[in-house]
Amino acid sequence: MTAGPLPLARRADSLVGSVIDSSTALLASKTHDIVRFAMGSPAPEAIPTKILAHVGVEAIGEAAPDAFDYAATEGDPAMRQALLHALEGTSDATTPERLTITSGGMQGLDLAYKIFLDPGDLVAVESPTYTNGTATALSYQAELLEVPVDDDGMDIDALREAVQRAGRAPKIIYTIPTFQNPSGVTMSLPRRRDLLGLAREWGSVLIDDDPYGMLRFAGDDIPTLHELADGDPLVYSVRTFSKIVAPGLRVGWVDADPSLQRLLIAAKQAMDTCTNLPAQRLLAAFLREGYLDDHLLTQREQYRLRKEAMQAALTEHFDGLAHWTDPQGGFFLWVTFERAVDTQALFEIALDEGVAYIPGNAFSPEGRFPNALRLCFASSTPERIREGVARLRRAVDVLEGA
Ligand SMILES: Cc1ncc(COP(=O)(O)O)c(C=O)c1O
Repeated sequence: MTAGPLPLARRADSLVGSVIDSSTALLASKTHDIVRFAMGSPAPEAIPTKILAHVGVEAIGEAAPDAFDYAATEGDPAMRQALLHALEGTSDATTPERLTITSGGMQGLDLAYKIFLDPGDLVAVESPTYTNGTATALSYQAELLEVPVDDDGMDIDALREAVQRAGRAPKIIYTIPTFQNPSGVTMSLPRRRDLLGLAREWGSVLIDDDPYGMLRFAGDDIPTLHELADGDPLVYSVRTFSKIVAPGLRVGWVDADPSLQRLLIAAKQAMDTCTNLPAQRLLAAFLREGYLDDHLLTQREQYRLRKEAMQAALTEHFDGLAHWTDPQGGFFLWVTFERAVDTQALFEIALDEGVAYIPGNAFSPEGRFPNALRLCFASSTPERIREGVARLRRAVDVLEGA
């Protein structure tokens, strides 16, 4: 008897995965030296491994056998308490009934789409936007509406016009307001207020995905959408420790209206039961013992130096050929070529030259930005950054036959 094709669900067609993760897999298969501007991960030396190992002795060592049990679905009490305390006085301050610990920021996004989105609902996203966020929305069969971004974040007039043209309000507006992935830009305060106003006018859920906000190295803080919303149930905030401590811990949190907590817990119980307990205990000890503030101070300074090194190298090699954004924090910088340079075609050549990035069209559901690319400045030293940008210039010359 021969088996027929496997009886996949219709939704399997919508599981498009992540261009970013697949380019990482391609990178892993290369053995020559490559400067890695592709992934949005902290540098290995930015992960506080020594401190985590130190606090881990007590938090998950022999004296803490229960650290390897199941945890409460809404989050381990030690983690919840340490986090609530760490956030006190910040723009992300919150209360127990609004807080759910998640398995990274991605689960916060997945839960949002799971509880709010029906197939075919409209989701307004920034253009460009975070590829994996798009993949999550599509996995719940969203229809996506791309809204341009400029130096002040999502263009709110363009959002209004796009919604008028679509003839229906978005069920969800998805924004990365601070040091946006991929562009690095930050939404201005007036636009944050206007966006909240539109969400209220349309009754749209506003997903406020802000993993990089604590990594500001220049300029003044702007209140988060969470703070500006002042408890408005339409605002659903997603946060993560992936960029500020370590992505492999897979711990994040959702800050949402208290009426949603029961649903979030039910959805999480049907998904992963609870977030990894040893990782929560480690982070709880890291926070409780007061390491976060100093760690962030050091990281911000490192990232400022790295961004400046990248901009200087870009000026040296790409002046007149491209322009780029000027992020005041976070991990990314967005480069747009002045003439048609196919950054998808450039990718393989760049890999051969020894530098990796993510092509611009990966950040647009409609494949916009063919002549742009995202560079992560956070994970390479200034010396490596200078080398990587020089290699990128050589790759462009090879592509153009210079
Ligand atoms: C905008 C944005 N949201 C969410 C995430 C996912 O975070 P996590 O790795 O904690 O799932 C990322 C990571 O790159 C991101 O850039």
